[in-house]
Amino acid sequence: MNTVGRAAWEMLSWGIRAFGGGFAIAVLGGIILGSAGGCNPASPAAFRLNLEGREPRRISFLQRESLEELMVELFGTPDEPRLPPGVELNLELLRMAAGPAIRMGDEEGYGRQRRGLYREHCARCHGISGDGAGPAALVLHPYPRDFRWGIFKYTSTLPGLKPTRADLRQVLRRGLPGTAMPSFARLDPIELEALVEYVIYLSIRGETERYAVQLILDEDEPLPLSIVSKERIIEEGAQWAYQQWLIPESDPQQYVVVPPPPPEVSMPAAWADSVAKGRELYRSERAQCVKCHGPEGAGDGEQTDLYDDWNLAKKGVTPAQTARLSALFSLPLQRLKARDFRAGIFHGGSRAEDLYLRIHIGIKGTPMPGVGPNGDNPGVLQLEEIWHIVHFIQDLAGQNPFSQKATGAAGRNPLLSELSGSTFGK
Ligand code: HEC
Ligand code: HEC
Repeated sequence: MNTVGRAAWEMLSWGIRAFGGGFAIAVLGGIILGSAGGCNPASPAAFRLNLEGREPRRISFLQRESLEELMVELFGTPDEPRLPPGVELNLELLRMAAGPAIRMGDEEGYGRQRRGLYREHCARCHGISGDGAGPAALVLHPYPRDFRWGIFKYTSTLPGLKPTRADLRQVLRRGLPGTAMPSFARLDPIELEALVEYVIYLSIRGETERYAVQLILDEDEPLPLSIVSKERIIEEGAQWAYQQWLIPESDPQQYVVVPPPPPEVSMPAAWADSVAKGRELYRSERAQCVKCHGPEGAGDGEQTDLYDDWNLAKKGVTPAQTARLSALFSLPLQRLKARDFRAGIFHGGSRAEDLYLRIHIGIKGTPMPGVGPNGDNPGVLQLEEIWHIVHFIQDLAGQNPFSQKATGAAGRNPLLSELSGSTFGK
């Protein structure tokens, strides 16, 4: 181990003792990966082909080359983004996020519009290709998001739908407490917009690539690709994915969940009553929460074989099969744990309305189901019932507004304020 490596390791073990895994890992990430995603400015950066879960030797040179050429033709490179017809993202914003990280004061960067935001701030975890497998990823739990699946966990939109831009903006502003995902609240609003745009770009690019990979590797599309095949990939891959991003914002009333006003709990007795109702609902057959989160919300339910979608793909039936499958992915299989509410750390935010959304909608890409109404489906719990469960969880998390009455904002407006300050800021 070199000196930097050893220093990092010492910091890490110190961090584990002091704060527990998640924080230590954020510290480690900060030390060894200050060098922004391992790109060498001398050789132009390239997107890595998505061959997750595939046997490399089963892929011919022509298949690989056709895919690479197609993707550059449609989406450009990490330095020069491009958009296929019908995908109307903002290229100006994308150019701010793309490219090598240029710091203020650099010969090229000074006095000109900023570039390279993604590589400066995100690539070390999320990878230059948005594959969630940047140099820091291996030691993180959960892993950074692989944007290429087009699935995001912490959203305000109904199950199956993309997040809104506001959802992504909020993740960037607040970070995801309890994970390595930091807050970027200190960036300019325009820089945040550029990064949101770039995440959407990487995601649409990734979904298009998955479609093309399937067509070429599984359906033996004749190569080199004909114009008709390319048009099909543009329409059914790129344009389809782009349309998905437009849906929530085309009709927010229908697709975006806004928590209704909570039941009145301005008195300790009303709070206790709501918590008791919440406990009963939480433990009910109908809600099923206990199955994963355990009777006391300690994250120790009977169901422990939990994986998010990104990891489920690596899971075989037998351990040997899982080992073989898992070896074909960039990152080894990682199990998911149901949250222990008593810790009071909520990845999607710990305001009452954040918890409400998690329970109403569920957490996309994970086994955590939504229980609120969804279109014609009335859902298994009513809106008011969801609020009682929120209060029960807040109570378990030590966020009972009446036990900290004297503490200013939290005492005055217990339900709509950030009760436990998140480590990563707002
Ligand atoms: C130190 C590592 C790290 C850095 C740096 C980082 N992220 Fe993350 N990010 C994560 C992790 C870990 C997760 C996944 C957490 C989870 O699954 O709960 C994540 C998740 C996300 C998500 C998904 C949110 C959701 O609802 O699913 C987005 C979007 C995101 N990051 C964007 C960014 C952007 C943009 C940057 C740069 C400005 C960035 N991240 C920098 C670690 C990082
Ligand atoms: C099939 C298993 C499963 C069931 C059933 C389930 N959950 Fe979860 N829940 C999870 C998992 C797994 C996570 C962590 C997801 C992650 O970190 O990606 C989670 C996370 C959460 C969180 C944390 C959100 C955050 O921002 O950190 C809350 C709150 C929650 N669940 C509440 C509930 C409630 C209430 C119910 C019942 C209505 C329920 N869950 C049912 C598996 C489940």
